[in-house]
Amino acid sequence: MWAGRFSGKPDKLMQEFSQSVSFDQRLWREDIQGSLAYAAELQRIGILSEQELADIRKGFEQITQEIESGKFEWKVELEDVHMNIESRLTELIGDAGKKLHTGRSRNDQVATDFHLWSLRRSTELRTAARSLIERLAERAGEHVDVVIPAYTHLQRAMPVRMAHQLDAYAHMLSRDWFHLDHLRYAWHNDECPLGSSACSGNSFPVEMAAFAEAMPEFGTFACNSMDAVSNRDFALDLVFACAKCMTHLSRIAEDLILWSTAEFGFVTLGDAVTTGSSIMPQKRNPDACELIRGKTGRVVGHLMALFTLLKGLPMTYNRDLQEDKEAVFDATDQTLACLRVMALVFSKENFKVNRERIQQQLDSGAGYMEAMNVADWLVLQGVPFRDGHDITGRLVKYVEQKGIRFADLTAEDLQAVDKRLKPELLKELSLEALVERKQVYAGTAKARVLERLAELKQWLKE
Ligand code: ARG
Repeated sequence: MWAGRFSGKPDKLMQEFSQSVSFDQRLWREDIQGSLAYAAELQRIGILSEQELADIRKGFEQITQEIESGKFEWKVELEDVHMNIESRLTELIGDAGKKLHTGRSRNDQVATDFHLWSLRRSTELRTAARSLIERLAERAGEHVDVVIPAYTHLQRAMPVRMAHQLDAYAHMLSRDWFHLDHLRYAWHNDECPLGSSACSGNSFPVEMAAFAEAMPEFGTFACNSMDAVSNRDFALDLVFACAKCMTHLSRIAEDLILWSTAEFGFVTLGDAVTTGSSIMPQKRNPDACELIRGKTGRVVGHLMALFTLLKGLPMTYNRDLQEDKEAVFDATDQTLACLRVMALVFSKENFKVNRERIQQQLDSGAGYMEAMNVADWLVLQGVPFRDGHDITGRLVKYVEQKGIRFADLTAEDLQAVDKRLKPELLKELSLEALVERKQVYAGTAKARVLERLAELKQWLKE
């Protein structure tokens, strides 16, 4: 492509070192689409004849078939996806292929292809996030009546409906959905760079708007050619969205790993998402969740890699930028896979809730979650909350020292701790009663949880 200026060939080692075709061939569809939009403009301004444009279109049709059927021969000596495709086009149609690059540079070409690919990827990610949210809404609907401990500091804190926790996951993931959705519009993230050429703009009177129109994922076109060829904010934003989504998934994974231990036993994860041990026949390991948790570090790492790549880069395009792709490819591949696997984990077959076991755990009285009932009840009797807190604290100490549960307390026990603890309190002590007191919006009372799930289902229908 640049043999004119050079008398020697690149060293074999250098060729291997600098090639990107082994990974950027993933951009072939976007590359052809951008080239078709570019060729149409070249024809409009008279650089290409109608016949040449028709030949280019035919050539790209054949290349598309060749790539789709796996027959296309990708050559390392042609460095990247752009040169591989252009060279094959010229092989197929001759001079018209050689005219295609008039006024264009690989700098605006790669920025366009990669940006377009990223926009499409964010749509795939949104679809996967939505499917997972759907699974969570289904499971939540089935487990509204299951009360579990909610933890703070990983100590039993308050009883909640399991549906409430599943809805919390759905809500976290819906932020990821909105975040990915916003990538398309926000922060001038939808400007098509094509036409910017190497860095200073096109020497030929092409219309930048025509390129953006030909690739409707772009909302508009770039307004500064120097920025356009070196901007990778869309990649940062996409990988940030992935890193955040993975962080959410890893937290969910961690809860499920805990919930499926013998100590908790709240859920049993199905065969399809767990594995056995090669030595311990009794084992059922939550590998799907562990891998999701593990891959999170890798995706967050890609975000750091991208920031570090872009930091201090002088204007405008620098070859460093070739290193942007693998980070984005892998970050999005992993996130997509994790969203899909997590949806599998939350399928009806794989997410099995052990209601009896949960009930046993609650009946053990460990953690004294009923205490909050007492403090609340005292407030309603006119006792200032801080005093109520103190009385309740003494009651917890009493229960602990006596080695009994809240459920075992008698009217005499209450009186022994404090005269203000009347016998009527006894019937207020259930965890269910505590759950039902959380009637405020966003609370875990049944009516509120059902309301939330209805809202969620409505959103999923939109
Ligand atoms: N493979 C290159 C990349 O991914 C394409 C752009 C090359 N531009 C250049 N001036 N060498 O960045």
